[in-house]
Amino acid sequence: MKIPYRNHLVAGTLMLALVLSLSCNKYKKAIVKEQYLDETIPDYSAIGVQSTNEIIHLGRVLFYDKNLSVNNAIACDSCHKQELAFADNGSFSTGFENRLTKRNSIAIQNLSPAGFFFEQPALFWDGRELDLASLISKPIANHIEMGMDNETQLLEKLNALPYLQTLVGKAYGENEKLTMERLSTSMAFFLSAIRTSNSKFDQGAMNGNPAMLMNALETKGKQLFQTTYQCNNCHNPSLGGYTSSGFVNIGLDINPADPGRMNISKNSADRGAFKVPDLHNVALTAPYMHDGRFKTLDEVLEHYSHGIQDNEQLDTRLKNQDGSAKKFNITDEDKVALIAFLNTLTDYTVLTNPMLSSPFKYR
Ligand code: HEC
Ligand code: HEC
Repeated sequence: MKIPYRNHLVAGTLMLALVLSLSCNKYKKAIVKEQYLDETIPDYSAIGVQSTNEIIHLGRVLFYDKNLSVNNAIACDSCHKQELAFADNGSFSTGFENRLTKRNSIAIQNLSPAGFFFEQPALFWDGRELDLASLISKPIANHIEMGMDNETQLLEKLNALPYLQTLVGKAYGENEKLTMERLSTSMAFFLSAIRTSNSKFDQGAMNGNPAMLMNALETKGKQLFQTTYQCNNCHNPSLGGYTSSGFVNIGLDINPADPGRMNISKNSADRGAFKVPDLHNVALTAPYMHDGRFKTLDEVLEHYSHGIQDNEQLDTRLKNQDGSAKKFNITDEDKVALIAFLNTLTDYTVLTNPMLSSPFKYR
């Protein structure tokens, strides 16, 4: 059969239009379909976050929802995994289209102040965010992490999902829509619910819970941490996870590749300075440092022991009186005790708490 030329043209044009419309709407239309949502809303009141259960639950669903990314393949938990204390186990994390982040993922924990007298911890390795709710949109829009930089399109996509319509209705009232503010605040409430107060250190050493008291080795490690080596000059786990020592250059390199805090403060004294990390759950968050350079806690201790580089911005607490870089010379025996102590900072309940886990069952 002879097909007239005109039909070829029509068919060709139609094909072209189809291809174009598919590629334009590739991200808008494609929605993660194969998922089953557990819609029972848990009672979060025991966690001590001031909000409603419905709002925190909405935040939990959004945290685990791949629809927040441009190609529906990445959720927040792709790089913040519950079983790894909401960090991940690569030096760098994989975002959409396999792009790698420039820094090591940070364990999400203790993000809002424990009480009135505590300060809000600075967020990200360089402290470029101070407000948790305004941080939320950053990974969503980030071109390495989730790549969804068009807020209108994101909200349109999310508001079209029936299960989210139901949850937003429960949280904010029937027929209400998800807005950027609601997305951010509900997720901020969920993230604030991730606290590490059930560790042996917090329950035993701080609260005197007899069932969780430290053994002799752990107690020795605590002594070394607090007195002999004065690690708590910077890391102070007894402040509910917070440290007030700001941003510190610990002499990882002579010439730091990543300027760290200097990018934000524009002050050359902050070159190679990074946030002092909260060491809760540190046993689970290898590899270590802002660039994930150390694979084990042993390697970290070896850095303090013999590896501190004498660069211009090295913190004075890591210098000898003559200005040279300190060598802590930690003995093998002391390393074992220090690591036993660091292990007491692990809160195992965080890893399995069903209120913090994924409400989705992907096929
Ligand atoms: C592709 C991996 C990736 C994804 C996806 C991702 N993150 Fe992150 N996250 C990181 C990395 C890497 C850092 C550290 C970045 C830095 O400090 O420059 C980080 C840091 C954070 C911090 C700072 C914690 C602290 O103590 O300073 C929070 C909070 C956070 N992410 C929340 C989220 C939320 C919420 C989402 C989803 C909307 C998300 N992340 C998605 C990789 C990711
Ligand atoms: C002068 C402040 C300071 C002192 C003292 C200090 N640290 Fe640190 N520590 C930091 C900073 C800042 C980082 C993050 C550095 C980076 O990534 O560039 C860090 C990182 C770490 C990490 C890796 C955490 C992670 O999540 O990647 C561990 C573990 C650690 N320190 C343990 C110790 C121990 C043990 C001591 C005592 C022997 C100690 N620190 C002394 C400031 C300090």
